[in-house]
Amino acid sequence: FESGILAGLHLVVTAGPTREAIDPVRYISNHSSGKMGYAIAAAARDAGARVTLISGPVTIQAPERVNLEKVESARDMLEAALEHISSCQIFVAAAAVADYRPLNVANQKIKKSGDSMDLTMIKNPDVVATVAQHEQRPFTVGFAAETQAVEDYARGKLENKNLDMIVANDVSRDDIGFNSDHNAATVLWSDGQQSFDSMSKDTMARQLIELIAHRYQQYTKK
Ligand code: C5P
Repeated sequence: FESGILAGLHLVVTAGPTREAIDPVRYISNHSSGKMGYAIAAAARDAGARVTLISGPVTIQAPERVNLEKVESARDMLEAALEHISSCQIFVAAAAVADYRPLNVANQKIKKSGDSMDLTMIKNPDVVATVAQHEQRPFTVGFAAETQAVEDYARGKLENKNLDMIVANDVSRDDIGFNSDHNAATVLWSDGQQSFDSMSKDTMARQLIELIAHRYQQYTKK
């Protein structure tokens, strides 16, 4: 893409999984690799943006020349996001945030006792929806990983979460998506959509940044 298409802008991206503590040694998490969010951070940097990468625990290297903020839980991620909300123009939520967390975090390691144990979970805050509802909201882009009726569910999330764009991908395919180096997606916005065939996450990130920059320009004209 043309370099400099995001010059002068601050883009915040969330990436990776979150970890929700059960006790001092255990947590609930997911298999998100962080690859898509990290690729978006690098592509946005190459497009001239100042980039803040809010990342859950991952094993991949952070791109150079981005401001990395490491977080653990969904609530940490929300707090980090809210810190930047009024200074960023574009917010991209690529993180796989845990929907629920254990209601109580034990102070000490939970001891093995009966044949079963119950864990009560409580809903986490929705990071991207909270950002998109904010008074000084940035142009907000979410992701939707679905296994069926991908575009229908994604369009529902676009509306419910008050997003400007959503990147929908089919995670029932094992050649793309979660943990893979490749991805295919359909990007939806209020009055349009664009599909990306299977390609590397780096290539997709660059194309997404180009599309996001274009839609952002339309948005600021309104
Ligand atoms: O509702 P669902 O989890 O499918 O929505 C996915 C989108 O919402 C992603 O952009 C994800 O980063 C974001 N999300 C979030 N906070 C949550 C749950 C999801 O920011 N608690």
